[in-house]
Amino acid sequence: MTAGKRFDRVPRHIAIILDGNGRWAKLRGLPRTAGHSAGAETFRTIAHYCKDIGVEHLTVYAFSTENWKRPDNEVKTIMRLLEKYLHEAIDSMERDGIRMRIFGDVSGLAPELQALAAETDEITNRIEGFQANICLNYGGRDEIVRAAKRYAADVAAGKADGDLTEDQFSRYLYSANVPDPDLLIRPGGEQRLSNFLLWQCAYAEFYFTDVLWPDFTPDELDKAIEEFNRRDRRYGGVK
Ligand code: IPE
Ligand code: IPE
Ligand code: MG
Repeated sequence: MTAGKRFDRVPRHIAIILDGNGRWAKLRGLPRTAGHSAGAETFRTIAHYCKDIGVEHLTVYAFSTENWKRPDNEVKTIMRLLEKYLHEAIDSMERDGIRMRIFGDVSGLAPELQALAAETDEITNRIEGFQANICLNYGGRDEIVRAAKRYAADVAAGKADGDLTEDQFSRYLYSANVPDPDLLIRPGGEQRLSNFLLWQCAYAEFYFTDVLWPDFTPDELDKAIEEFNRRDRRYGGVK
C-alpha cells in the first residue's frame, strides 16, 4: 500500500459516493454484480488508507433508498455481498482498529443484515479510533424526515422543548456525533448528490472524477486531498 503523502490538512471526515461499479463491469464484459464485488474490495483498501493517513471518519454511500428500483437479481446480489462484507469486517474490526456504523433505515433490511448491523454497533461502542460509516438503505431526505418525526415525538413526550436549534436537530440524524464531511468525493463521472448527506454537506468541498469506483486507488484519494488543500473554505465569510 502507498505510504501516503504528507498534506497540510488531512480532511477530518471524507464522504464518498461509491459509483461506477456497473459500468466498470460492463467495460470488461462482466455482469454488473462483478462490479459490486470489485467495489467492495476497493472500499476495504480505501478505508485502511484513510485510517493510515489520519482521517477520522469515512462515510460511504453503498445502497440508497432509491436503489430498490434496480432489477431484483442485482438488489439480491448487492445484499448478499453486503452481508458477506459485514461478516468479514466484524471479524477484523477490533484487530484493524476500525469502528463501523450503518447509517440508514436498517428496519428495511433483511433480518440477517439487521443482526450484523447490531453486532457492528456493539463492537464499535467498545473500541476507539477511525470510524467507517456505511450508508445502507440511506436517503438524505428520508433521514431528515425521520429526524423530524423523532424530534416531534420527543416534544410530545416532554423530552424536548419546542425550541429547536441546528445542533440539536443534527443529533436526531444517523450522523449524530459525527462531524460534517469536509470533502465529498464522487467517482464514476456523475456530478450530483443523488440524495446523499443533504444536511451534512452544507459546507463540504466537492470533488468529482471520471475514475470508476472499482479503479479508485489511494493515489486517486491523494489527488482529491491535494485538491482539497487548494480550496479556500470561507463558510460565507470574507478573508
Ligand atoms: C454504485 O455503482 C453501486 C450502487 C449504487 C449500489 P452503480 O451500480 O451505480 O454503477 P453504475 O453507475 O451503473 O456504473
Ligand atoms: C448513488 O448512485 C447511490 C449509491 C452509490 C449508493 P446511483 O448510481 O444510484 O445514482 P444515480 O442513479 O446515478 O443518481
Ligand atoms: Mg450509478
